[in-house]
Amino acid sequence: MEVRAAYEKFYDIEADALVVTVYEGEKSDDAALKELDERTGGIVSELLGTDEMRGKQGDMVYVYRPGKIRARRLLLVGAGKREDFSFDTVRRVTGSAARFLRGKGARSMAILRRSQLDIEASAQAAVEGALLGLFEPDMYKTESKEERHMEELILAAAAPELNDTLARGVERGRVIGEAVNLARGLSNEPSSTLTPTELAERSRETASRVGLDIDVLDEARMKELGMGALLGVARGSDEPAKMIVLRYTPDGTEPLGNDADVLAVVGKGVTFDSGGISIKPSEGMEKMKYDMSGAAATLATMQIVAQLKPRINLIGLMPTVENMPSGRAYKPGDVLRAMSGKTIEVVNTDAEGRLILADAITYARRLGATQIIDLATLTGACSIALGSINVAILGNDQGFIDDMRKAGRDVGERLWQLPMDQEYRDMIKSDIADIKNSAGRYGGTITAAYFLREFAEETPWVHLDIAGTAWENDRKPHQAKGPTGVAIRTLVNYICNYAAKK
Ligand code: BES
Ligand code: MN
Ligand code: ZN
Repeated sequence: MEVRAAYEKFYDIEADALVVTVYEGEKSDDAALKELDERTGGIVSELLGTDEMRGKQGDMVYVYRPGKIRARRLLLVGAGKREDFSFDTVRRVTGSAARFLRGKGARSMAILRRSQLDIEASAQAAVEGALLGLFEPDMYKTESKEERHMEELILAAAAPELNDTLARGVERGRVIGEAVNLARGLSNEPSSTLTPTELAERSRETASRVGLDIDVLDEARMKELGMGALLGVARGSDEPAKMIVLRYTPDGTEPLGNDADVLAVVGKGVTFDSGGISIKPSEGMEKMKYDMSGAAATLATMQIVAQLKPRINLIGLMPTVENMPSGRAYKPGDVLRAMSGKTIEVVNTDAEGRLILADAITYARRLGATQIIDLATLTGACSIALGSINVAILGNDQGFIDDMRKAGRDVGERLWQLPMDQEYRDMIKSDIADIKNSAGRYGGTITAAYFLREFAEETPWVHLDIAGTAWENDRKPHQAKGPTGVAIRTLVNYICNYAAKK
């Protein structure tokens, strides 16, 4: 999709549709609305406040041949209360409008800027909203692969002197929106094609496209490093495991504030989670192809960072396996030795995510990480606690957690902290080994986080459980159902804030 700014009057913009937002309780007394009202023969004043257009978020009125405006259609969209209007509203409204208009066959849409929000950030939000809104998880549909395509988004801008600011926002929005959709595509892809080997291949393509260093560890190298926890999980599958490591170093000659600072992002990459010998019930098992959403988010984050170039040392780790039952699979009762030296009693082979993350976290520290963020579709308990609304966040450093939560809030992603009282640690004690990989269902998200904490040790670490939020079961006006690409925008915002602070 092309995005451009238009500096002519909104009624002179050539497009299939002009999108105009209206606030709750608004009258057509503002200059732009008045002008629109006059040019459309009073449509706006007649509509505002009626049941059809109260201005509530989600209200939409579509007008055919709307009079003296150049666009062929007019779409009025409710934006909710003016005082609640935010970048998140921009994203939702743009996403809903883009989806709606594509459904009507529109190929270009213009948006009239009406808010006073920062111009760069709102341009970014509008472009993100449109790109995220237009994503469809239908890559295997054979029938008329959508003749319909939104090809152009036009931002009706205030003044040409803001050109650079606007262009920066558009570019950031494009970079972020495209990467989030890349991750959504990967989460949606069947495990028969998106194997660990294939995910490594895709990561190589991404790395060479945007200029990242990449190292893919095969099973032999992981064995040398002693990654017994990850390799234990991999044993049941015919697909060889991979540890994908991406590295970004900022260019330029000035040294970083502290050269030794390295942030690591670690994402769970289980390309299919059958549960292994502790096999899952068949109902809903098909969704376990998205159990690599953490890894996909890691790849997307690295791609974005390579393009936005903040001044930070960043590594992305994607431990990638398939969790399968077989004659060679690891079994309940087995004891694994992790890379860190800790021994783990496997009481449930379906608690595999924490095992592969354990070795990836240890490896991140070995590579010099001074701060670690891991993200994973780790526990069903997370969906029970928070549904699909909040990501669960836990960690060993309150300041770090607070910064992440704020980074999320600013991009419209919600993170809710769960407690880590010492008693939860007691629940993963094992009789035979140092720890066990499951403490059962109660407090499942917390005990899983405690397991990871054992491997982060003293390194500042934050864990995001995205099991409930990485897949949306309901279709939303602004978003298709399916993979959401959650947490990527939060991570990028955190990283950029962090780099700016140094
Ligand atoms: N990948 C699952 C968690 C999951 C469940 C993600 C549903 C998305 C939707 C994870 O590997 C898992 O199976 N966790 C177990 C842990 C239990 C055995 C301690 C769970 O949550 O049931
Ligand atoms: Mn599992
Ligand atoms: Zn899993």
